[in-house]
Amino acid sequence: MGKISPHSHLFHATNIKETNAIAAQILQKLGQRGVISLEGPLGAGKTHFVKGVAIAMGVTDEVTSPTFTLLQSYGSCEKRLHHGDFYRLQSEAEALELGLDDYFAEGLTIIEWGNKFPNILPQETIRIVITPLEHGERAIEFFLPKK
Ligand SMILES: Nc1ncnc2c1ncn2[C@@H]1O[C@H](COP(=O)(O)OP(=O)(O)OP(=O)(O)O)[C@@H](O)[C@H]1O
Ligand SMILES: [Mg+2]
Repeated sequence: MGKISPHSHLFHATNIKETNAIAAQILQKLGQRGVISLEGPLGAGKTHFVKGVAIAMGVTDEVTSPTFTLLQSYGSCEKRLHHGDFYRLQSEAEALELGLDDYFAEGLTIIEWGNKFPNILPQETIRIVITPLEHGERAIEFFLPKK
């Protein structure tokens, strides 16, 4: 586990269970609302991380990759987790057609490949970057927005 600074924090997961634990820890720090841009290469573990967040929120719906559905919502109205993926989108306009602002207005929204169209995400968006290392290990870093 890395050094805590006010704006970023670096975690190290040695296996998928630790990725879940880190997701739970980050969720606890950030709260169950807001917008997260989840970044990292193909197969980094972004969807797996969202599964960890869902478990930590007590959301029991099955979390799947929203690559084809683009955006899906889990949980109840008191506890909502929205899960999107910009990977297949060609333009900001296409992303805006999803009606993102309605999703951003309630609960927690996590967008895989959010860095593809950062300009349409709220200024307060938190970035989480997953970097695959050797042997199933992952570096997981979050960045709070600069005020
Ligand atoms: N420490 C780890 N953390 C997360 N996933 C891991 C880890 N070690 C191995 N994996 C495996 O890596 C794979 C990550 O797949 P996942 O679909 O979560 O990636 P992704 O980043 O969402 O990819 P894509 O860009 O295609 O959406 C899973 O099969 C998972 O089991
Ligand atoms: Mg994915």
